[in-house]
Amino acid sequence: LKGDVRIALVGFGNVGRRFASLLLGSYGRVLKERGVRAHVTGIATGRHGSAIDPRGLPLARCLRLVRSGGSLGAVNRGGPLASSRVFVARVPADVLVEITPLDRRGGEPATSHVRLALKRGLDVVTANKGPVAFAFKELTGTARRHGRRFLHEGAVMDGTPVFNMARYCLPGVRVLAFRGTLNSTTNLILSRMGRGATLREALREAQALGIVEADPTDDLDGWDSAVKGCALANALMGADARPGEVRRQGIGGVSPGRVREAARAGKRVRLVVRGDLRGRRVHLSVRPEGLPLGDPLAGDGPDTALLIKTDLMGEIGLTELGGSIDQTAYALLADLLTLFPNDQGVR
Ligand SMILES: NC(=O)c1ccc[n+]([C@@H]2O[C@H](COP(=O)([O-])OP(=O)(O)OC[C@H]3O[C@@H](n4cnc5c(N)ncnc54)[C@H](OP(=O)(O)O)[C@@H]3O)[C@@H](O)[C@H]2O)c1
Repeated sequence: LKGDVRIALVGFGNVGRRFASLLLGSYGRVLKERGVRAHVTGIATGRHGSAIDPRGLPLARCLRLVRSGGSLGAVNRGGPLASSRVFVARVPADVLVEITPLDRRGGEPATSHVRLALKRGLDVVTANKGPVAFAFKELTGTARRHGRRFLHEGAVMDGTPVFNMARYCLPGVRVLAFRGTLNSTTNLILSRMGRGATLREALREAQALGIVEADPTDDLDGWDSAVKGCALANALMGADARPGEVRRQGIGGVSPGRVREAARAGKRVRLVVRGDLRGRRVHLSVRPEGLPLGDPLAGDGPDTALLIKTDLMGEIGLTELGGSIDQTAYALLADLLTLFPNDQGVR
């Protein structure tokens, strides 16, 4: 697949719109250098309509329409689109980019979108951790059977290469364990509590920065971390874990006093997600821990970090500094470039 490539976006919110505007600029140039001319032939949303145009949608106009609260129906040439599933079943595309909101209870409708697209013979790229946390084995199997790829770099730590590092840079290596501070909201809140803020005040600050999930309990109760832990265990360690099975404790019970007391003892409280391979099972947990200040996971502020313990390559650490929507959009570009390696096979 090189030359003209048709891309369909299901979800056109913060990530989708940022990705689309970069596609009009630097991303479009990078893809062209790979010999790929990208055309967005379909966009589906929840409340802003959906549109298909087999010749390519007017992307700048789509962005203006959705930003002004209008409906994509104004540029639809693809007949009535009753639901996002109908859209995925019908859109003329080579790649589906799945960026609808996370449903931490079951990973839907994203998992159905991914499954349907793979069965139709589309490659799938997603930043949605739901399908990776709830159906990784099934979806990678479906992709294999249909000769397609299911790529999901943006599901954990935005564009920081977690999955691609393991997949392409650590051949022959087994991941034995990981531990991470992967939720920027709780990282920020616990930092602010260390400086005297209450949980409620710190949450308001995180919300003003736009980093909190639509339902804050997804962050505070450790659900986001549990979903990310499952995504890592499933994709890096061959597990078939589900978020409901993770031993999970959030930060609701952590008082500013406990955070300051830890600080006096030279520690920082962080919500840590752990995965440990014991026998053939990966044990997953999420809970607040007091980490020594020198611990790579004990950074100050919202930055996320992950340590991966391996059999042949010791322990590897990754930190994402100043993560933003740009890094998430980059994850989608990185996955697209993986689908279209250059002549030397370089991804
Ligand atoms: N934001 C980040 O920094 C970040 C980082 C890493 C990963 N992610 C993941 O990336 C995904 C997208 O995040 P986001 O921040 O862009 O979310 P968002 O701003 O809430 O946008 C979600 C988009 O999905 C649409 N949508 C909702 N339900 C849909 C459905 N059933 N069918 C089709 N479209 C539907 C929404 O349409 P309406 O607005 O019209 O309802 C909207 O266009 C999520 O899974 C998130 O967890 C986000």
